Amino acid sequence: MICRLFQPDTNVYITGMSKKPDPIKSEMRHDQLAKEIRKHDALYYQEDTPEITDAKYDALRRELEEIEAHYPHLKTGDSPSTSVGATPSSRFAKIEHSIPMLSLSNAMNAEEVYDFIDRIKRFLNLTNEEQITVFGEPKIDGLSCSIRYENGRLVSAATRGDGQTGEDITANIKTLKTVPHTLAGNPPAVIEVRGEVYMSHADFETLNKRQEADGAKLFANPRNAAAGSLRQLDPKVTEKRPLKFFAYALGATSDPIADSQTGIRDQLKSYGFDVPHDIVCTDTTQGLLDYHSQMEEQRADLGYDIDGIVYKVNDLALQDRLGFVSRAPRWAIAHKFAAEKAVTRLEDITIQVGRTGTLTPVAELKPVTVGGVVVSRATLHNADEIARKDVRIGDTVRIQRAGDVIPQVLGPVLEKRAPDTLPYKFKPVCPVCGSLAIREEGEVAYRCTGGLICDAQAVERLKHFVSKYAFDIDGLGDKIIRQFWEEGLIHTPADIFRLKGKNAELDNPLENREGWGRQSVKNLFDAIEAKRKIALERFIYALGIRQVGQATAKRLAQRYEDFDTLRKEMTIAADPSSESFARLINIDDIGPSVAADLAAFFSEPHNQEALEALLEEVQVGPYVAVQTSETSVSGKTVVFTGKLEKMSRNEAKASAERAGAHVSGSVSKKTDILVAGADAGSKLKKAKELGIHILSEEEWIEQTRAV
Ligand code: IVH
Repeated sequence: MICRLFQPDTNVYITGMSKKPDPIKSEMRHDQLAKEIRKHDALYYQEDTPEITDAKYDALRRELEEIEAHYPHLKTGDSPSTSVGATPSSRFAKIEHSIPMLSLSNAMNAEEVYDFIDRIKRFLNLTNEEQITVFGEPKIDGLSCSIRYENGRLVSAATRGDGQTGEDITANIKTLKTVPHTLAGNPPAVIEVRGEVYMSHADFETLNKRQEADGAKLFANPRNAAAGSLRQLDPKVTEKRPLKFFAYALGATSDPIADSQTGIRDQLKSYGFDVPHDIVCTDTTQGLLDYHSQMEEQRADLGYDIDGIVYKVNDLALQDRLGFVSRAPRWAIAHKFAAEKAVTRLEDITIQVGRTGTLTPVAELKPVTVGGVVVSRATLHNADEIARKDVRIGDTVRIQRAGDVIPQVLGPVLEKRAPDTLPYKFKPVCPVCGSLAIREEGEVAYRCTGGLICDAQAVERLKHFVSKYAFDIDGLGDKIIRQFWEEGLIHTPADIFRLKGKNAELDNPLENREGWGRQSVKNLFDAIEAKRKIALERFIYALGIRQVGQATAKRLAQRYEDFDTLRKEMTIAADPSSESFARLINIDDIGPSVAADLAAFFSEPHNQEALEALLEEVQVGPYVAVQTSETSVSGKTVVFTGKLEKMSRNEAKASAERAGAHVSGSVSKKTDILVAGADAGSKLKKAKELGIHILSEEEWIEQTRAV
C-alpha cells in the first residue's frame, strides 16, 4: 500500500541543514553568543529592562542553536539553550526541563503488575525468590508541574509540556497556597520538586457555580478546571482559582536528598509540601494489589480525583540501574483503576476518515456522564467489531471510559432492543470523497483509496503535522486548518510556511476578517516562524507515515542521525534484499511491515515532491542525544560477552547508551572495549588478538558511573 502524503504544488530543491561551519570559529562564536544571551536573559527575566528587541534576541538564540546542532558537544548544561527562562513564546515563555519529565507505562490488571515486577527482576538479574521493595501512592488526576528552588527560594515553575520543554508558569504557581515560596528544613542548593496541581471536588463545584453565575464557560471535570486555571496568562486569574499541589518526585538536585522513594517523600514533607496520603511500601506484589483494591474503594471519598496507583521501586540506586525505556521509567508503572461504565442510546453511526485514509465507525450517543465527563461519541473500532457485537442504530448500549482513552462501546443491552432495528451494514465507501474503500489482506480497517483527492486525508494530515508532538504550531487549530484548506490557502505542509506571503497578496487578508485582528494574525505568523527549525524525531513523526508514531520516529532519528541519511536509506530499503532494508529491520520495534510503510512513503513521487517543497521552508536539525553523561567510554564502541553477573544484557546495553557508547554484537577492528563476563569464549580470544581494551563487569560499572 502506498501512502501519499500531500498534493504536490511546486518543484523545488532540498536544502536541509546548511553546510557544517568551521569547528574552531564555531566554538568561539558559541562562547560569545552564550555570554551575550545570558546578559540579555538577566536583563529580561530578572531586571525587566530588556535592551534588545525580541526578534534580535531570537536571532541570537537561533544562531547559537544552529551551532549546537552541528556541534552537539557545545550544548553543555550551562549553554543558554538548555537553561531556564528560555525563548519567550507568543503565549508563555518556554522552559526546557533539565531532566525530561516522563510519562508512565500503564498496567490495566493484576497480571500486568506481575509482569512489571518480573521484568524488573529479570533486568536486575534477581532470582524469583529475591524480593524487591516497591512503594505505591495514588496517581493524582491533575496537571504535572516542576518547581525549581535555588538556595531554598522558588525561582521557576514549568508545566510538563512535551516532556522536554514546558511552559513557564512561575507567576501562576506562586499563587498556590500549598506551594512554599521558601523551603523549610535543609534543602540542597538546587532542587526541582515535581508533582501534580489539582482541584478538589468541593472547590470544583464552587468554581463551576461561580462560572455559571458569571455566564462563563463550565469546566467538564476538576482536571480540566485545574489545567485551565493554571495555564492563564494573567496570574491574578489563577490566584482566584482554588488550586492545590501534591509533591511526589524530583527533577534535578545539586545533592541527593534521600536514597529511597519513602525518603524523598519524608524530605518533601519536611520542606513544607503536601505529599499524597495513604501510601504503601511492600515486598510483595500481592501487597500492592491489596493496596490497589483498598484505594479503589476509598476513591470516591478522597475529595479529589485519582485515576490509579503509581508503583515505584523504592530503592533509588535500583531506579538508577533500571533507567528508562522510550518515554517512561522501567522502575515505575501506573496501575489504573477499572474503567467507568454507563448506559445510553446509540443515535447514529458515522464514519470518520483518518489521515492515512482509515475509516473508523463512530458511535453518536445520547450524551451521558461517565466518570465526571460528558460523553457523546465513542469509537466502534471497525466494521468487524460492529458485526461481532451486533450493535445497531437505536440500541441501548453500554459504554466505558478509562482515563484519557477514547470512550468505547462495549455492546448492546439486548433486553432493551426495539423490535424494528436492523443489523448495521458497513458501506465500503469514503464518506468524504466518495472513493471506494478497500480492506487489505490481514487488516481489519477499510481504507479510502482516494489518496490525493480525499480532503479528509489531506486535512487530517495537516492537523497531524501541526499537532503537539509534531511541529506544535500554536494557533493552528483544527478549525483554522480546515478553513485555510477550504479557501485554498494551504494544501501541503510547505504552504503553512508560505502563508504569510500568500496572505499579503489576498484581496481580503486575514487581519481584515471577523474573528481575526492584527495581533492574532501576527501571533499566528510568529508561531509559524518559530517552528522553521525542527528536531529530526519530530520531523519524522510529523510526516504522518503509517505505523510511525513518536517512539519509532525517535528510534529512526537515533539510528540515522540526520534527515538526508534517513531519506537515502529509506529509498534504498524499498528493495528487501538491500543492506539498507536489513539495517532498518535491525532497529528495535521495526519489523518488515513498518519497514515496508517507510520505504513506500519515501519512494512515492508525490511525497518526494511535497517533502522537497517542505525542506525548502524548514531546517531539520540532526539528532541530538539526550541524557547521556560524559564518561570515559563516551563515543566508544563496546561489545559484551560471557555471562554477566551483576546486570542483565539489557541493563548492560542501557548503561552503555546512557554513558554515550555504541553497543555492537561482534568484535572487529572498530571495537574499542570488550566487556568480558564469566566463561567468555571466542569473542574474548579475538579481542585479545586485536589488542582491544578488555574490561571486567565491575570495571565497566565503575567506568560508566556518571561523573
Ligand atoms: S511519578 C517518571 N507519582 O502521572 C515519572 N506521577 O501518567 C514519575 N502522576 O506524568 C512520575 N500522580 O504527572 C508520579 N503519585 C504520582 C503521580 C504521578 C500523578 C502523573 C505524572 C505523570 C503521569 C503519568
